[in-house]
Amino acid sequence: MSKLKIAVQKSGRLHDDSMKLLKDVGISIDNGRGQLKASAKNFPIEVFYLRNGDIPQYLRDGVVDAAIIGENVLIEKGNDISIAEKLGFSSCKVSIAVPKSTKYKSIQDLQGKRIATSYPNTVNRFLDENKIDANLHIINGSVEIAPNIGLADAIVDIVSSGSTLFKNNLKEVEVLLHSEAVLAVSPLIFPKNQIILSKLKFRFQSVLKGRQ
Ligand code: PRP
Ligand code: MG
Repeated sequence: MSKLKIAVQKSGRLHDDSMKLLKDVGISIDNGRGQLKASAKNFPIEVFYLRNGDIPQYLRDGVVDAAIIGENVLIEKGNDISIAEKLGFSSCKVSIAVPKSTKYKSIQDLQGKRIATSYPNTVNRFLDENKIDANLHIINGSVEIAPNIGLADAIVDIVSSGSTLFKNNLKEVEVLLHSEAVLAVSPLIFPKNQIILSKLKFRFQSVLKGRQ
């Protein structure tokens, strides 16, 4: 029988919320520790645990049929990939932050500055729209440390509770986008799996309605 291949974040905040959603819709997954792939007992899906940033390419290539992923990652790396459903959890912002001591009046203040981020495409789009020339430093994690070690004047990263900004003496000055978890679909999904996806989507919708 055909199975829907669905990608879920391997570890991190989205992982737990995604697994909880699958559990809440009654899908029980045989989860061996450290396994990168798992099947469900009672629903025709296979779950692949992948790195967030790799998921858009796997969707594009049809390696997986669908994914539970942050909308912000799709905006950064998968603008071409369609969203079947917004899932209403793991909401966050992608924001610009500067040291608390920086006097910031407007976006113009970023002209010629160094910005550290893991979201270069999102940042470049924003800078282009605002006709700002700045120098990007691409870092993959712990971006908020960059101003404190003299690597950047500003950062662009995810803000959820705001505690990472606070702990690093930074203040949010611009919000580039709002994001939440979404169900994304591969352009190469087979019709058979499309049917399974519709069933899954229906289950998601019922649970999400109940959560409101
Ligand atoms: C994420 C993100 C921010 C932080 C935001 O980092 O990159 O740094 O969470 O959350 P908060 O506003 O609730 O503090 P994460 O801890 O996942 O680590 P990483 O940056 O090293 O990937
Ligand atoms: Mg971080």
